[in-house]
Order: sequence, then structure tokens, then C-alpha cells
Amino acid sequence: MLIKLLEKIQLVCPQCRDPAKDMYSILAMNDIDEISSEHVMTGDLKCPDCGSKYPIIGGVPCILKDIDIWQAKVNEEPDPDPVTKIFNEFHYGKLEDLQDWPDDQRYWSALKELSKGNYLNSLDLGCSVGRHTFELAEMSDTTLGIDLRLSSLKLAVIRQIEHDVTNILFIAADALDPPLIAGMFDHASALNLLDNVRYPLTLMGQMNALLKPDGQMLLATPYAWQENITPSEEWLTPDDVIGALRGSTLPQCGFSYNILAEEDQGWTLRNNERQYSHYISHIVKAKKN
Ligand SMILES: C[S@@+](CC[C@H](N)C(=O)[O-])C[C@H]1O[C@@H](n2cnc3c(N)ncnc32)[C@H](O)[C@@H]1O
Repeated sequence: MLIKLLEKIQLVCPQCRDPAKDMYSILAMNDIDEISSEHVMTGDLKCPDCGSKYPIIGGVPCILKDIDIWQAKVNEEPDPDPVTKIFNEFHYGKLEDLQDWPDDQRYWSALKELSKGNYLNSLDLGCSVGRHTFELAEMSDTTLGIDLRLSSLKLAVIRQIEHDVTNILFIAADALDPPLIAGMFDHASALNLLDNVRYPLTLMGQMNALLKPDGQMLLATPYAWQENITPSEEWLTPDDVIGALRGSTLPQCGFSYNILAEEDQGWTLRNNERQYSHYISHIVKAKKN
């Protein structure tokens, strides 16, 4: 974590904020225990009002309301964990032996093309090991990558330091309760996250709140719902997503977007040498009114 980025993307204390009164406190650097290539690798951030502390682990600030419970869970996991390894190959590997399968490069190129712009602040929710975050950073003054999986974020930070990318802040946080000030971002992506959260409409609502007027939203999802992650009454269809964004269905969400592009793109995860998962994501690019 580069300290200068805390001035550009202020992080809010999730413990004491009061959205009803629009009151929040901005976290400040507290202890610095280890620095590498100007990145704070170990230390913590502290809320000046309630005194809550949030650790920086492997260069990643971890800003969660239930930080102790989350950290206990992380401590039990292998590092890197198997999911991180799979996504690391998907983001940066070649899948050369998948000759008859759709080319993942086409998927990544489509996303890069669809997110093209010139942004002050951009956001990648559920960024995993960060490929799309790095691509957004090329078009942005500052980019924030958020995920709940620390081992993925740690790999992203290692890559960031290796490639000397100085405009990305990677944090561990909940996309359903982001520790951020509303209306800060010109672009917000959530790639293959909608069907990985408990409340997909809440995720869209958070993205809507974080975007400035005229801000751009990029959603990609294969709608691969799993009851153990998302209760079936929360599952959405492509029509639900488009209708909600336009405000023509689910008006209670209060969204008002113009759909700028909509396409389907395939991508493949290598679970192991003999097992692959192929998904077809519905990609939607929309502009906030
Ligand atoms: C299917 S992966 C997609 C990763 C990447 N966006 C991509 O398309 O390759 C979903 C990611 O979202 C993260 N995730 C799940 N729930 C989350 C939440 N509530 N807040 C932030 N990240 C979350 C997971 O840890 C995982 O890295």
C-alpha cells in the first residue's frame, strides 16, 4: 500500500459510520512495521473517532467491520489458497492446451475494450488477483481493487510492486459494505461477482451509490447461482439486470442508466489438469444518468 493513495481514495471506518446521518470517519495511517519499495507491507490504519484499528497484511489494508472474525478465517486458509491459484492462471496464464476452447484472450480483450475511458477514479469490485484492475489503472489517475480473498490480493500487490504500478490501491473489504465515500468513482466494474454475493441487488445498489453522475458501470456475470451463496429468491436474470438498470423493472432500486453495450463472452477456468469449467458471461456496460 502506497501511503499517497490514501489521500486520493479515502477509506471510511466501517465500524462507526452512520449512513442515515451521512456521518463517517476517514481512516489514518497508524503504525508502520515494514516497508518495501515504498509500500507499507505491515502496519495498521486507525479510525481517529472510534479508535478501531485495521491491519495491513502483505501490503493489503483489511477494512472489514468484523475484522477479527474475518482474520481468524483467513489464518486457517492455505496461502495462496486453491481458488487464488486457479484465478491466477485464468488472469495471467495462457491455457495453451485448450485448443478447441474459446480463447480467454478474447474475453479479456472485450472487457478492456468495453471499459475504455479516461477516469479520475476507477473501481474493480471482486478483483481477485487483479488483471482487470491493472487494465483499469492504465486508463485512470487512481484505481481501487477490492476483494475478500487476502491471498489473491497479496499476489496482486506483489505483481504491482514487480511492475512498479503506482496508482492502484488493493484492499480487502466487502463489496456489499464498501468502506468508501459515495459518488467518488467515474467507473465501477464487477466482473463475475454478482452471482458470488448473497445480495446481488445490494451489490448493484452499492455500485450505483459509488458512481458519480455520468459514471460508467461494467457488469459481467454468467448467472451461475449457487443456493449456498445466494438465496434463490435473490437470483436475477439478464432481463432483471437490464430492466433494473434502466429503471423499467424493480423500480424500488431507483436506478437510471443508459445501456451502452451488451454482449456474451466465454471464459474458462482450469480446476485441475483434467477438469475445466466453461462460463458464458453476460457483459453489460451502462452509463448513470
Ligand atoms: C468469480 S471470482 C471473479 C474474479 C474476477 N473479477 C474475474 O472475473 O476473474 C469472484 C471474486 O469475488 C470475490 N468476492 C466474493 N464476494 C465478495 C464480496 N462480498 N466482496 C468483495 N469480493 C468478493 C471472491 O473472493 C473472488 O475473488
